[in-house]
Amino acid sequence: MSQFLPEAIQSALPNIIQLFYLLATGFFIVGIKRLGSPATARSGNQMASFGMLIGVAVTLFDQEIISFELIIAGVVIGALIGIVAAKKVQMTAMPEMVAIFNGFGGGASALVAWGEFARVDPTLIAVDGLITTGLSILIGSITFTGSFIAFGKLKGFIDGGRIALPGQNIINLVLTAVALGLVGWFTIDPAYQVVFWSLFGLALLIGVLTVLPIGGADMPVVISLLNSYSGIAASMAGFVLGNNLLIISGALVGAAGLILTNVMCKAMNRSLVNVLFGAFGGGDEGGPGDTGDSDKSVQKTFADDVAIQCSYANKVIIVPGYGLAVAQAQHVLKEVANLLEEKGVEVAYGIHPVAGRMPGHMNVLLAEADVPYDQLYDMDEINPQFKNTDVVLVIGANDVVNPAAKTSPGSPIYGMPILNVDEAKRTIIFKRSLSPGYAGIDNELFYSDKNQMFFGDAKKSLQELSKAVKELD
Ligand code: TAP
Repeated sequence: MSQFLPEAIQSALPNIIQLFYLLATGFFIVGIKRLGSPATARSGNQMASFGMLIGVAVTLFDQEIISFELIIAGVVIGALIGIVAAKKVQMTAMPEMVAIFNGFGGGASALVAWGEFARVDPTLIAVDGLITTGLSILIGSITFTGSFIAFGKLKGFIDGGRIALPGQNIINLVLTAVALGLVGWFTIDPAYQVVFWSLFGLALLIGVLTVLPIGGADMPVVISLLNSYSGIAASMAGFVLGNNLLIISGALVGAAGLILTNVMCKAMNRSLVNVLFGAFGGGDEGGPGDTGDSDKSVQKTFADDVAIQCSYANKVIIVPGYGLAVAQAQHVLKEVANLLEEKGVEVAYGIHPVAGRMPGHMNVLLAEADVPYDQLYDMDEINPQFKNTDVVLVIGANDVVNPAAKTSPGSPIYGMPILNVDEAKRTIIFKRSLSPGYAGIDNELFYSDKNQMFFGDAKKSLQELSKAVKELD
């Protein structure tokens, strides 16, 4: 198409393309910045998508591009798949979807490197091009198979526990060292195809072997790390193609994924090494025998009583957790909050950074129900407020309010910062049983004198509560 442009524009085209790439980069950076607050996140997402559209459209003008028809067909098919997948996915299944996207991203980067290797005589590629080709194959392939194993573990297709040979961690480290050696060999002797294919095969195997031993419950952290890998692989592919936009956008994804991984590890008080090499949790719920301490008793409560306590409170704090997402009870929760506010009760929401199963899970869920952003408080903001609070409604949350994190040095969650709900005058926990959550441990809060259990599915319990609050009028 560029041949139909006036000659002056044709000669300036490479610079114009770079300018548009710069513009797209600006959209990516501002878009990511806007993801920092729930109020601007939606527009940030749209900005970053628009940047991507600019990137794709401008690449159409690239000289060495395949036919327009194929690119447009690719854009249309890709967009359709993306729209259907995004519309259909359940909020609780978002980590699985991200895992698949990461896998495809990593696989695409590896394929790009393979394509360049097949297209150009490898002996004519400069050393830096060979190194980035080798690294793109290595990191992209690890991301591809690793992400699909993570997906299988989350979906339950693959056992969520530790699947490993004795000494698996050592085996993985040795294989990774061998793979890096192969990248070096490939750089020195690119014409020897056996090295290239051995590297490809070994990288695919490493992806499987490094993710298989990790407990299913740690998958969100692993997925965030794989997200970072997919960015690094894309950046490497950018070097292979000499495409600045791919280099920059890959680096942004790589850095953002690493920061997110770090944030998640910190919020769980765990190191990345512990996540990658120490088995923790086998699935979403605890195993048999983890159904609470039968020697201790809990106080049960019901909708009418909860309605009275909340309606006559000055302040109610709502602490949402994974169970709220499972029950899809966010809309009825908002309805209850509205009813209480109409009675003059001050309502606030306390959000723990790792409540739920993905970063920002609770924010997204509550935003769906149009909960005002100014009622959402981070852990550091809400913690000082609990001691002046009459009632805390803990909806489907467990680990993030477990005092064992402060009081039991032997506990797997010891040291994890939690929401100090135990400082409030009354806590009411909405869940179906005394089963533990993600960390698979009992919660002392259930048995506290100040606590009451409202057993049942969170949506059903909140519907009953809503009805009971209305009946008080
Ligand atoms: P959890 O500790 O996992 O507890 C969730 C509780 O929800 C369960 O105890 C379960 O009890 C209850 N529940 C499930 N379905 C329910 C329903 N339909 N109605 C009512 N309750 C229901 O959740 P949390 O407090 O949100 O903590 C999150 C955990 O995930 C933390 O340990 C965190 O470290 C971990 N994690 C989080 C992330 C991110 S990024 N968010 C990533 C990795 C790990 P019942 O079965 O008795 O109902």
